[in-house]
Amino acid sequence: MQTRPRNIDVATRLFRQNGSLFACPLCGMDLQVDEPAALRCGNHHTYDLAKQGYVNLLTSRVKAGKYNSELFAARLALHQTGFFTELLAALENCIATYAPRRPQGQLIILDAGCGEGSHLAHLAARVQATGQPALGIGLDIAKDGIRLAASTYTGLIWCVADLARSPLQAAQCDIILNILSPANYAEFHRLLRPDGIVVKVFPGPSYLQELRTALYAGGNKETYRNEDSVQQFSQQYAPLVTEQVCYQQELTITTLDYLLQMTPLAWNADPTALEAVRRAGLDRITVDATIMVGR
Ligand SMILES: C[S@@+](CC[C@H](N)C(=O)[O-])C[C@H]1O[C@@H](n2cnc3c(N)ncnc32)[C@H](O)[C@@H]1O
Repeated sequence: MQTRPRNIDVATRLFRQNGSLFACPLCGMDLQVDEPAALRCGNHHTYDLAKQGYVNLLTSRVKAGKYNSELFAARLALHQTGFFTELLAALENCIATYAPRRPQGQLIILDAGCGEGSHLAHLAARVQATGQPALGIGLDIAKDGIRLAASTYTGLIWCVADLARSPLQAAQCDIILNILSPANYAEFHRLLRPDGIVVKVFPGPSYLQELRTALYAGGNKETYRNEDSVQQFSQQYAPLVTEQVCYQQELTITTLDYLLQMTPLAWNADPTALEAVRRAGLDRITVDATIMVGR
């Protein structure tokens, strides 16, 4: 009987094949695989690979706050219900239209702030399905997110790291995904190849509107505008396209529960209002996102 390779062995192989992409977060030197399962730079800074198949390249203790394992498990479960399918289809289309092709090599797709990794795993697989070899690199500051990503999806590189100081050499990325996560455009400029693209997703004005209304009726969190974020992006890149994706998803008691566990909108809500939403339920919820692609 053939046994599945261990995640840590797959990750070691991927780092060995692609080590030249990475930079020591302490000194910037190249990182090489050091047996049995660690990355090491010329200055002997060493980073162990975890058995789930990821590496922690954070150099200081960072509190991921409420981005914890329960939140990421709920986000993964919601993804598996097809919650983000239409958004992902639009992103796949943007990549097919605007990403460079590398007939002789592989596309490097970095997801900066990848969370539990489902978006990156899906999009990298779709690029590979077109016959274009691609390597997905997921980076997030929350260890719980990266641990779940590495446990769920093999064949991609997963790193705990700060997207503002990414442990990657300059000008290596063909596509930078930045989905519902904070951006650092100076760092994205450093990382992007000259013909590479940044694919940014902001929440749209109606994102999770039914939940906003249920939790914050009359308060300033009931409405949301993204003009400032859109403008900031436009100041950095000549946008190739700006696309609004808006659709509704039906909710069951279970999917509402995932939603409440995974969204930062619930973090500061009045517990009574949260309990009322849980009891009354929500029939449907709006997923609204603005996608911007820049070069
Ligand atoms: C709303 S979640 C979105 C996650 C994922 N992109 C998705 O759409 O499911 C925001 C993510 O940004 C990550 N994040 C926040 N600040 C970060 C930083 N400085 N470096 C890397 N990741 C960061 C959080 O840990 C969290 O996983």
